[in-house]
Amino acid sequence: MADPIQSALAAAREAGAVLLEHLHRPLHIQEKSHRADLVTEADKASEAVIVARLHAEYPAATILGEEGGERKGTSQERWIVDPLDGTTNFAHGYPLFCISIAYERDGELLAGVVYAPIMNELFAAGRGAGVRLDDKPLHVSTIPSIEDAMLCTGFKPSDYETNAPYFAQASRRAQAVRRDGAAALDLAYTAMGRFDGFWEFDLAPWDTAAGVLLVREAGGRVSAIDGSPFALSGKSIAASNGYVHDELVSLLAL
Ligand code: IPD
Ligand code: CA
Ligand code: CA
Repeated sequence: MADPIQSALAAAREAGAVLLEHLHRPLHIQEKSHRADLVTEADKASEAVIVARLHAEYPAATILGEEGGERKGTSQERWIVDPLDGTTNFAHGYPLFCISIAYERDGELLAGVVYAPIMNELFAAGRGAGVRLDDKPLHVSTIPSIEDAMLCTGFKPSDYETNAPYFAQASRRAQAVRRDGAAALDLAYTAMGRFDGFWEFDLAPWDTAAGVLLVREAGGRVSAIDGSPFALSGKSIAASNGYVHDELVSLLAL
């Protein structure tokens, strides 16, 4: 049987090449649910190569992709795919975008890969096997408190009112707060210690699945925003290096 991490790595690299190819072409950008919910041919082309590979290697697995929805399989395996996380960044040529691919068996996350093609940074985690950036093992940061932390958040324009008080509060208390626009990459950066914590209120499983495993395998903590256990279907997320987690959750409990 194929190794899910290797399959995800190969699919992510292939999709990365597709995204870079599209980056240099004139883009046809469509709006989905609202003006900031974009999809381009690049999202669809990236998902097509990922799904083709994963389906060929795991014909019985379910594949949940942001653009194509759920292709139901017959086994207990499920792939969860965001073919282009950070589409708005991509559409503006801003380099923070990535591909996110996670593998679940019996509802348990076992492998996760996040690939940022412009930076050529490939993050890969296996359940119980740690996380690597290319060949280098990664760990979360050791920053002990929010006042020394660089945090990150994300929000859709429609969520601005919800997030604004937390953004303000975090900006007052932390050393810095960023809003980078690609949730899967925000989680990868938390796993590698560039960020000490990250939160967002309204995400989909394809935004979080791979990144959650990266953070956990790097020694960090993941919960819902209210500190309860994180669920892929639960939308909200707070992820951190662990040391600042309780402080982050209490800051988000305004
Ligand atoms: C979006 C990005 C963004 C987050 C949004 C997501 P997309 O994903 O991850 O950072 O704030 O909530 O929808 O649409 O670029 O794949
Ligand atoms: Ca996304
Ligand atoms: Ca996407």
